[in-house]
Amino acid sequence: MQIYEGAGEPTAPGSVVPETSLSELNLNWRERDLPERERTKHVHRLHPYLGKFIPQLVEIFLRKYFSPDQTVLDPFAGSGTTLVQANELGVNAVGYDVSAFNVLLMAAKTKRYDLKGVRREVLDILGELERATTSSAHQQILWKSSGDRAGETASPNSEYLKQWFAPQSLRELLLYRELIENYEDQEILRIILSRSARSARLTTHFDLDFPKAPQTKPYWCYKHSRICTPIQSAISFIRRYSLDTLERLEEFSLRRTNAGVVVRHEDARFAAIPPVDGVITSPPYVGLIDYHEQHRYAYELLGLRDCRTAEIGAASQGASHRAQREYQEAIAQAFRNSCLSMRPGAILVVVAGDRFGLYDGIAQACGVEAVAELRRHVNRRTGRRSSEFYESVFIWRRM
Ligand SMILES: C[S@@+](CC[C@H](N)C(=O)[O-])C[C@H]1O[C@@H](n2cnc3c(N)ncnc32)[C@H](O)[C@@H]1O
Repeated sequence: MQIYEGAGEPTAPGSVVPETSLSELNLNWRERDLPERERTKHVHRLHPYLGKFIPQLVEIFLRKYFSPDQTVLDPFAGSGTTLVQANELGVNAVGYDVSAFNVLLMAAKTKRYDLKGVRREVLDILGELERATTSSAHQQILWKSSGDRAGETASPNSEYLKQWFAPQSLRELLLYRELIENYEDQEILRIILSRSARSARLTTHFDLDFPKAPQTKPYWCYKHSRICTPIQSAISFIRRYSLDTLERLEEFSLRRTNAGVVVRHEDARFAAIPPVDGVITSPPYVGLIDYHEQHRYAYELLGLRDCRTAEIGAASQGASHRAQREYQEAIAQAFRNSCLSMRPGAILVVVAGDRFGLYDGIAQACGVEAVAELRRHVNRRTGRRSSEFYESVFIWRRM
């Protein structure tokens, strides 16, 4: 197997063609080569999601290994980066994920919208909510109805909602949720609701990713260098994200193609996958992220089905030797299953931070030929965390 570290100028994704050799690729982009606004363009930033790969990485391997009208599979599709990029290039895409919220997010990103219709709905529901929160007569009735329900039907486990939201924020969110039933483009409205809920939680501004306990009192904010007060109302977020969502959908609509997109809420180890031409994916890492827990507020608010026991490599399972062995077997099983839907010679591009050196064993266990490994230096700064690590792009061939 060849190993490449990347030399020379970082690769411009648009320059890659099927003939570009792996040795020519340099995936070590610096911030100035690939600024944040490019990495989070259009629908890629419709909702925060921890653990996605960057669209430009996917674009490079789509351009190298896929032609328009072929079909790419992402068995661990997450927030849908592969599906969105494939669609931009006219490549059909099939994505699986075991987390219902991720499936909802992918569906909202890739749906083909009637732009005028979706604009009308997003603004209409916002207007309804604003009217309800400003007219006092109306307010009392609505507050009563959603308040009565706040503890009972929000979700079977709504203690979480009562703990993590100020009463007014929760009423606004529950009212918006109730109004969604009157509209057609429900996926995108649910995503606006979830994104607003994420921002309106009783957390500190500097720890929106993994807050441990609700923050109910004013606190010293590292992000803003002053005393900040926990959020009391969600409506300004709902307003801001409604407008931002419309802009992002409009921007993507200018780039999207008619290529097909299929999204499935299934475990990649056992799904009956339709025929595909290859794979581009980034599997969960071992013991790093709990993908369900990351969006707990959305599960609670939207009543989504929780399948966390089927999550491979969940942080809650740790990274012990035993967890690593189980992880290897589970990931290999998902790839063996994916290989059933591909012809011999098909390529699998697997992006992984292989800290424990598990991927050679995975390649062996699923019977693929390991063609190359491209190493990529990743330098990232999010919130108060900064990280620097190497990520590998494994190129495998189905035998
Ligand atoms: C690293 S993330 C993928 C991120 C994706 N590349 C993106 O850019 O958004 C891994 C994903 O695998 C999913 N996953 C974990 N176990 C799974 C399983 N058994 N079947 C399908 N998906 C699974 C997680 O829910 C998570 O969304």
